[in-house]
Amino acid sequence: MLLRRREASLLKTMDRLAGNARLMIVSDLDHTMVDHHDPENLSLLRFNALWESNYRNNSLLVFSTGRSPTLYKELRKEKPMLTPDITIMSVGTEITYGNCMIPDEGWVEFLNKKWDRNIVSEETSKFPELTLQSETEQRPHKVSFYVQKDKAQEIMKALSTSLEKRGLDVKIIYSGGMDLDILPQGAGKGQALAYLLKKFKAAGKLPHNTLVCGDSGNDAELFSIPDVHGVMVSNAQEELLQWHAANAKNNSKIIHATERCAAGIIQAIGHFKLGPSTSPRDVMDLSDTKMENFDPAYEVVKFYLFYERWRRAEVEHSEHYLANLKSVCCPSGTFVHPSGIEKLLRDCVNSLKTCYGDKQGKQFRVWVDQVLPAQVGSDSWLVIFKKWEQSGEVRQCCLTTVLLSSKDVSVAQGLTWVHVHQTWLDGAGPNSHTTWLF
Ligand code: GLC
Ligand code: MG
Repeated sequence: MLLRRREASLLKTMDRLAGNARLMIVSDLDHTMVDHHDPENLSLLRFNALWESNYRNNSLLVFSTGRSPTLYKELRKEKPMLTPDITIMSVGTEITYGNCMIPDEGWVEFLNKKWDRNIVSEETSKFPELTLQSETEQRPHKVSFYVQKDKAQEIMKALSTSLEKRGLDVKIIYSGGMDLDILPQGAGKGQALAYLLKKFKAAGKLPHNTLVCGDSGNDAELFSIPDVHGVMVSNAQEELLQWHAANAKNNSKIIHATERCAAGIIQAIGHFKLGPSTSPRDVMDLSDTKMENFDPAYEVVKFYLFYERWRRAEVEHSEHYLANLKSVCCPSGTFVHPSGIEKLLRDCVNSLKTCYGDKQGKQFRVWVDQVLPAQVGSDSWLVIFKKWEQSGEVRQCCLTTVLLSSKDVSVAQGLTWVHVHQTWLDGAGPNSHTTWLF
């Protein structure tokens, strides 16, 4: 039963794609995808828009973090992060699939070999230099401490000898100049990726390209997996750069970006020519973006970006934009607001007039997650996604469905909005103080 459930969730992840993934990004989170020194989260939001408009539908996003599930969920609440297809947590000791984070039980079984966390606890208690990390970070296949930088090498050596004597085969990793993790030898971010690649290969679904992204010691082994491209973000830690200098200096598939965090990931996509690398957030006049082929996902990303810029007064206050928008709304098209009220789409566009610049100089961001278009007729697409809006401290999400049609040939961009329907998600509701317009 377990086996069936596990295989089903991996297959479901792969089956979302018609063929092999165009790109699989495997990224660390803290100081790689997420920049803790960027309160505006701009590079993350730029990455999000690029991923949702060009890759979500044909590629795989994998987050690989040192955090436990508890701390990972906390980070998701703090930062505008996308939902990955696969989540690898606790330094490659826990692999889960999809939205519901269904665990890979096979990986757990594999890690049980030559591992006994009680012996690890016993032996480590003999080292007063080791300070235990919080309870949430102690996991079935991971025991974590803090240790001073200048003591780390010496302690790691001594620990390794004493655990070996007790019959264990472990891996000791030092990260961020302070964290020391003890894992089973077969675990780690690199091994977890190798395990996934093996499964993809067996199913004939190996991604065309894989890009690994990291900044610290526990990411090093990601860069040693054969055939992957790699980016060490500009702000990478000394321990990763040293590992690279000693082990992978001549590998032209690995770069040290000149950009920080998610901006470094975008830079690497461009450098290795893995696909489009211009984020819609870097295109100021989106109304003039001419696509060779119209693209339902791009259409959705573009619209919500305009909506954010309109309310932040980052686009010109011109009737021209609203007239354009109205021209792509089907005359009888409706919008079902999450409160249940139904309005004509064109009336909703009219109501945008009064809110130009109402978020100027304020914290206000809009982003979309899991934008998945499905062609439902010869000239129609149903796009389902999560629309997020953050206004100051308040963050809300709506499951949104948009019906688009390419029937009306007079529309320059090719697509007409026929219907929009939203439902509150994540406990948000009609009592909110913010104005939810789209
Ligand atoms: C994350 C984890 C921590 C671990 C560190 C380095 O910060 O929360 O337990 O030691 O990553 O891998
Ligand atoms: Mg990191």
